[in-house]
Amino acid sequence: MEEVKLTSLVRSSGCNAKLPPGDLHAALDDLRQKKSEFLIEGFESSDDALVYDLADGRVLIETVDFFPPMVDDPEVFGEIAAANALSDIYAMGGEPKIAMSLMCFPSCLDIKIMRRIMEGAIRKTEEAGVVIAGGHTLSDREPKFGLAVSGFADKDSVWTNKGAKAGDSIVLTKKLGVGLLMTAHKAGETAAVEAIAQMRKLNKEAKENAGGLEIHAATDVTGFSLMGHSYEAAYASGVSAVISFERLRYLEGAEEAARYGFVPEGRYTNEDYLQDKVSIPSDFSTAERDMLFSPETSGGLLLFMPPESAAIYIKRFSDAFIIGHVVEKQDYPVIVTR
Ligand code: CO
Ligand code: CO
Repeated sequence: MEEVKLTSLVRSSGCNAKLPPGDLHAALDDLRQKKSEFLIEGFESSDDALVYDLADGRVLIETVDFFPPMVDDPEVFGEIAAANALSDIYAMGGEPKIAMSLMCFPSCLDIKIMRRIMEGAIRKTEEAGVVIAGGHTLSDREPKFGLAVSGFADKDSVWTNKGAKAGDSIVLTKKLGVGLLMTAHKAGETAAVEAIAQMRKLNKEAKENAGGLEIHAATDVTGFSLMGHSYEAAYASGVSAVISFERLRYLEGAEEAARYGFVPEGRYTNEDYLQDKVSIPSDFSTAERDMLFSPETSGGLLLFMPPESAAIYIKRFSDAFIIGHVVEKQDYPVIVTR
């Protein structure tokens, strides 16, 4: 039987399929509900996950993430979706423990494809020490898959996105450019081997290497781009993030993909939403702006920590690199420099 190309069934894929941040805020900002005294992080804070105080020194961390495929191999898609969903627990400094799957699956597809998506997801969750213990499946025209994940952390060591302080170094743990490369990949322009390998990689090591170090704030870089997630952390912390473009590391071919116009749709809605929040030098080319605002999928952790901690961290974990520093609040929450 001929293999169906999963990506041919979807309109947009990966974290690029997120609704634009401006629309989300317009729809959700004024929703009211009763507060829970145990909820430390909730709906309002644009953080990666909810944090619920278990009142025994620990917190429960929960997140959910699912999206349409960006690759054709069902197992690789399962792995990427799992790594991406687990990342929000790591971004809170937590240890993921249990998960439930969310699957939307076209009834016309061979059911074995669903099984292979699950096999990929299980391979990743096992690597993370997580068990998939339930889930829900819908028939849908577009396939989509992801996980709701629960994890735990000690209450005094949970990382939020709002503790960044002036003087902190800003550290990123994966290269950028996945959204650009996967757009070129979908057009048949590149195998995007490095991008796919990076999306499959768990942020487990990135989190564990921070053990014993002072982390003031953390998040992960996904659909809202490096700019969007830097903005959310800087804004929540009441500071400004200064990001040096020349320190950013991109996957090979990402810049070329931008120059040839392989730009994911989310890049434009991201920039629209962020134009009064991010300051970029006027001599930046369109391609350079594409590189800053393009959605990432299963991106790295973005960590805000004192320079001494950052120096130790990047020595321990060679994937990580410093991309900038934090200053007192300026006119713009994010300031990009050459
Ligand atoms: Co996140
Ligand atoms: Co998320």
